[in-house]
Amino acid sequence: METLLLKDTPADIKTAADIIKNGGIVAVPTETVYGLAADALNGKAVEKIFTAKGRPMDNPLIVHICDLEMLERFNIYREFTDKAKLLAERFWPGPLTVILPKGDSIPDETSAGLSTVAVRFPSHKTALALIKAADTPLAAPSANLSGKPSPTTAQHCINDLMGRADAIIDGGECEVGVESTVITLAQDPPRLLRPGGVTPEQLREVLGEIVIDKAVTDRLEEGRTAASPGMKYRHYAPRADVFLVRGESFVPFVSRIADRDSAVICYDEDKDKFDLTAYPIGKKTDFHSHTHRLFDILRQIDDTDIRTVFAPCPPKDGVSLAVYNRLIRAAAFRIINADAYVLGLTGPTGAGKSLAASEFKKHGWHIVDADRLCREIYKKDSRVLKELSAVFGKDILTQDGGLDRKKLASRAFADNESTRKLNEITHPYIYEAVLLEIEEYSERGFDKFILDAPTLFESGGQRFCSKVLAVTAPVQKRLERIIHRDKITQEEALLRENAQHSDSYYTEKADLHIVNDKDENTLIEAVNKLITEIL
Ligand code: TXA
Ligand code: MG
Repeated sequence: METLLLKDTPADIKTAADIIKNGGIVAVPTETVYGLAADALNGKAVEKIFTAKGRPMDNPLIVHICDLEMLERFNIYREFTDKAKLLAERFWPGPLTVILPKGDSIPDETSAGLSTVAVRFPSHKTALALIKAADTPLAAPSANLSGKPSPTTAQHCINDLMGRADAIIDGGECEVGVESTVITLAQDPPRLLRPGGVTPEQLREVLGEIVIDKAVTDRLEEGRTAASPGMKYRHYAPRADVFLVRGESFVPFVSRIADRDSAVICYDEDKDKFDLTAYPIGKKTDFHSHTHRLFDILRQIDDTDIRTVFAPCPPKDGVSLAVYNRLIRAAAFRIINADAYVLGLTGPTGAGKSLAASEFKKHGWHIVDADRLCREIYKKDSRVLKELSAVFGKDILTQDGGLDRKKLASRAFADNESTRKLNEITHPYIYEAVLLEIEEYSERGFDKFILDAPTLFESGGQRFCSKVLAVTAPVQKRLERIIHRDKITQEEALLRENAQHSDSYYTEKADLHIVNDKDENTLIEAVNKLITEIL
């Protein structure tokens, strides 16, 4: 299909309107995002939108009007309640979509067979001109390919829909930048289904009580039906892993944990503080800039090889709720806490790390055990199993899709190169699990953590720590301990000892150091002294 590139001129609007009247589809700017429009009353035309976007047919479209009079003239609704009137008066034209009982003229293709219809009166002059010239309500979802962020520039539409739409009208950047607020009046009290440019606070001023659907901020629980069909679809997932970071220490924390494949989305005032690729999203309190820039930034990042992206966790009120709603999905609901105090704990085997850790635990610290997390990941993270089997052979997986750890070990520890590959695959997953466990326990009230990791330095885990404590002990003491603890022979213990680093390997890199060369009580005393110092 040839795609006409049109401008925002009366002649081009007429061309676009003719395409619509003949059952074609046109990408058009609105104040929120670009829409892919067809005659909402023409089922065949509307079907083309679904094909062009690759959108599931059971996800209904929004019907766009250019004046209130159209609502009745085209028999769009069955009932326009007082609440609908109040919303229309206050927020239309503008970025608000209202769900109403559906009128007879709306074909099933537009409403996906529902008894309700979503209606919006946009404020963008180009959208209004097109609706007026076509003289029919326009069904228009966002003009992106399904699975991509909504388009906020004509170039985004060109990237997604060239050869798939009849025309694209270039009307510059969309001002709001995120899709409209969606509220349903088909329930009482009204329910907010999607946050956007019109805020919950503004809606409450007009409607009194409204309910914010749980799916706006939280993962849709399995088995629960979505209040809006759009909620159940897996949303846009960026190529990179995105993490939302909460807490005051955003800049130092991200600077510490970022590696060379990372980028950061940040406030304008912080953009020069990072030694990594930074995407400024606007001044910290310029919330409109955040919605305006968000999707373009996500699209830019998708065009790079960046593997990890950190973004400040937006507040859950005002227009920021819309940014939170889009970003938390892009982040697959991963939030991490920049303000947690994390003390790395490392050292050679048998030095007394476990005893030290249990002493911290007695003082209310939460112990994050990297070895335990690694075992859990092997058990249940299908992403890591997929990557491992691609490198070490499909037969490292058992019949039921689990991991044959012995087989993996025999291959992964066969030579240095294989071990390097194993670590390259597993470490990012382990540290993701570390960050998520810290967040989970922060939510439960913990603020101090031990990251217990024997290979903390080798794995680059130091960057996840506020400070690192090394526990070492004389070789003879350590040998005695592991012979006793693991019930092994002197020879086996010596063999293990040979694989250990020297003490200086740990002490040179660590910030704090305890030599466990006397008895247990002395170690416990040393730990207690340290805890008082840290506090
Ligand atoms: O800002 C916007 O709303 C843009 C511009 C182009 O107007 N449009 C847009 O459309 O974002 P779309 O299709 O990408 O999102 C519409 C959302 C979907 O999540 C859909 O499931 C929901 O609205 N929706 C539509 N009709 C509905 C209905 N009758 N009941 C519940 N949800 C509905
Ligand atoms: Mg959409």
